[in-house]
Amino acid sequence: MSVTGVALILFLTFHGCMNMVALFSEEGYNMICEFLGANWYAVVATLGLAALAVIHIVYAFILTAQNRTARGDNRYEVATTVKAGKVEWASKNMLVLGIIILIGMLIHLWNFWYNMMFAELVGAMPAIDPTDGFGWIKVTFSNPVFVVIYIIWLAAIWFHLTHGFWSAMQTLGVSGKIWLKRWQCIGMIYVTVLMLMFLVVVLAFAFGCAPSLSC
Ligand code: HEM
Repeated sequence: MSVTGVALILFLTFHGCMNMVALFSEEGYNMICEFLGANWYAVVATLGLAALAVIHIVYAFILTAQNRTARGDNRYEVATTVKAGKVEWASKNMLVLGIIILIGMLIHLWNFWYNMMFAELVGAMPAIDPTDGFGWIKVTFSNPVFVVIYIIWLAAIWFHLTHGFWSAMQTLGVSGKIWLKRWQCIGMIYVTVLMLMFLVVVLAFAFGCAPSLSC
C-alpha cells in the first residue's frame, strides 16, 4: 500500500503541475493533452497507473478486513481510552475516505478520460475535440454541481493524503520518533500545496478568472 500510495502521490504532483498550465495558456495546456492523448506511451502509462490504483484499492480492503478480524469490535484501543482525541480522524476513516475518493475518481474519469483518451482510442467525436483539454475543463466547471463535487472530492483527498503520507514513510521504515513528527509536518505542507494547486484550477474556471481566461 505504501509503495503504490507514494507512486500515486508522484502522479498527482505531475498532474497538479500540468493543470497549472491551464491557468496561463490554453495552447500550452492543449499541447500537453495532445502529447498525453492516444499515443502508445500514454496508453502504457495509463495502464501502469490503473494497475497502481487497483493494487492500492485491493490491498486497502484486504488490510481493513485483516485488522477487523484481528481486533474484533474493539478496533482502536486508544480511541476507547482517555487519549481518544489523539487519534486522527483521518486515520480511523481511511477506508471511508478512500471510497469517497473512488466515487469522485469515477466521476472525474468520466468527465475527462472518457471524453478525451477513450474517445480518441475508439474514434468517437464528442461535443468538444478530445484533445481540447482546456475546453473540457471550461465546460466541466461551468456546471456548479461539478464544482461542488470536486471541492468535496479534493477535501477527501487532502484528509486521506495527510494521513497516508507519513503512514507510508512509517511502513517504509524511514520514520522513527524524531522523523515521524517531521514527516507529518512535511506531508501536511506538501499535500496542502498539492490540493491547492487543483482547487485553484477548479475555482478559476468556475469563476472564469485566470490569465488564460483573460479575466
Ligand atoms: C482541477 C482538477 C483536475 C483537472 C482539471 C483534471 C484534468 C484532467 C484531464 C484534462 C485529464 C485527461 C488527460 C488526457 O487524457 O489527456 C485527466 C485525467 C486524469 N486525472 Fe485529472 N484533473 C483534475 C484532478 C485530478 C485529481 C485530484 C486526480 C486524482 C486524485 C486526477 C486523476 C486523473 C487520472 C487518474 C486521469 C487519467 C490519466 C490517464 O489517462 O493516464 N485528476 N485529468
